[in-house]
Amino acid sequence: MTTPVVTLREITAETVRAICELEPHEAQSGFVAPNAVSIAQAHFNPAAVFRAIYADEAPVGFIMWRPGDDGASCFLWRFMIDGRHQGKGYGREAIALWLNGLPALGYRLAQLSYLPGDAGPHGFYLVQGFRDTGEQRANGERLMELVL
Ligand SMILES: CC(C)(COP(=O)(O)OP(=O)(O)OC[C@H]1O[C@@H](n2cnc3c(N)ncnc32)[C@H](O)[C@@H]1OP(=O)(O)O)[C@@H](O)C(=O)NCCC(=O)NCCS
Repeated sequence: MTTPVVTLREITAETVRAICELEPHEAQSGFVAPNAVSIAQAHFNPAAVFRAIYADEAPVGFIMWRPGDDGASCFLWRFMIDGRHQGKGYGREAIALWLNGLPALGYRLAQLSYLPGDAGPHGFYLVQGFRDTGEQRANGERLMELVL
């Protein structure tokens, strides 16, 4: 069996419902907003970019980002892989696709925030090369960054 090819694709009228139905495991639901909420928020932020994550022709996840305030950084706003598709390397591939595209757009730094917790994504982001900045937001989210 060949390894599925991971791509980031624009969401269309035909695919939006399938993307909204993608969900993390129940224990992870506190770590990321539902995709329907993210897509709605993106429509009120002209700088937001969102894509569906596909493994071959199967929708498996969602990613959304926006420019940082300084123009040189890009902020990972939302990121998830459906629970049924986790542990197959799709998250790693999707983050790599996002990161690899950033320098050509003029970004020099990738940033994100996460909520600490047992089923949370901190360990995943460490494996992908992000480092903790030590900063914490009022809502408890902690910041990480990766120099591109
Ligand atoms: C975090 C998430 C996107 C990872 O996706 P995934 O497709 O399961 O990850 P992968 O299979 O690509 O894993 C890549 C590597 O990270 C490791 N990894 C995955 N999740 C991990 C975790 N929570 N802690 C530590 N390591 C983790 C894997 O073991 C793998 O390691 P390897 O390269 O040594 O084999 C997924 O668990 C998810 O959607 N979580 C819920 C939503 C969420 O928390 N989003 C982030 C909001 S800030």
